[in-house]
Amino acid sequence: MEIPKVASAPRAVLFDAYGTLFDVYSVGSLAEQLFPGRGQALGVMWRDKQIEYTRLVTTSNDGAHYQPFWDLTRAALRYACKRLGLNLTAEREGQLMNQYRHLSAFPEDREVLRALKTRGIATGILSNGDPAMLEVAVKSAGLEDLLDRVVSTHVIRKYKTHPQAYALGEQAFDCAASKIVFVSSNSWDALAATWYGYRTLWVNRQGLPFEELGTQPTRTGASLRDVLDFFPPDL
Ligand code: LAC
Repeated sequence: MEIPKVASAPRAVLFDAYGTLFDVYSVGSLAEQLFPGRGQALGVMWRDKQIEYTRLVTTSNDGAHYQPFWDLTRAALRYACKRLGLNLTAEREGQLMNQYRHLSAFPEDREVLRALKTRGIATGILSNGDPAMLEVAVKSAGLEDLLDRVVSTHVIRKYKTHPQAYALGEQAFDCAASKIVFVSSNSWDALAATWYGYRTLWVNRQGLPFEELGTQPTRTGASLRDVLDFFPPDL
């Protein structure tokens, strides 16, 4: 009789950064203060353009046009303001970029990271953010003692969803993707990480539909806490 194969418990958890561990809400509320009635539209277009630029520089001319995430974030802000007809003065740009640098953690981050540590699970970040951005964000959010690895895709000058970017997570933990849970609130990131071979949790904080490309994440949750479901309580 064939013995059913039981998937062994994961050994590590990797988190995406922006929107997943770090709350970008404060950026949206500052945008609303600066541009009343247009803050939400600006926030959405800024984010979409930022991600579009990561793909553009990763897929064009073998990365010849690569720019660090901080620079793409600024370029995306400038584009979005032009497109929406908003007057982005140097002062406003400085304020918005500064807010982006100093984000707070979601309220459950510390408790979840501690629970993983108690279970002996390695934890880390795998982000498009460049190393300086991630260092400040991790410190501002007070998470430095709870993360074993902070990995930036900057080392390879390619952004997620390039497979070399996801491979950095396996290298960081010296462990196959199938033994790692990858957590992201970005549906495209959760999808591509699933395609790559990670076990995935999509944290759907905003009640959005998942991508319609035929693959689902391993699990979907509403907060970071749902990552604990990957680990039996007696671990
Ligand atoms: C990151 C962005 C994609 O942290 O949220 O990689």
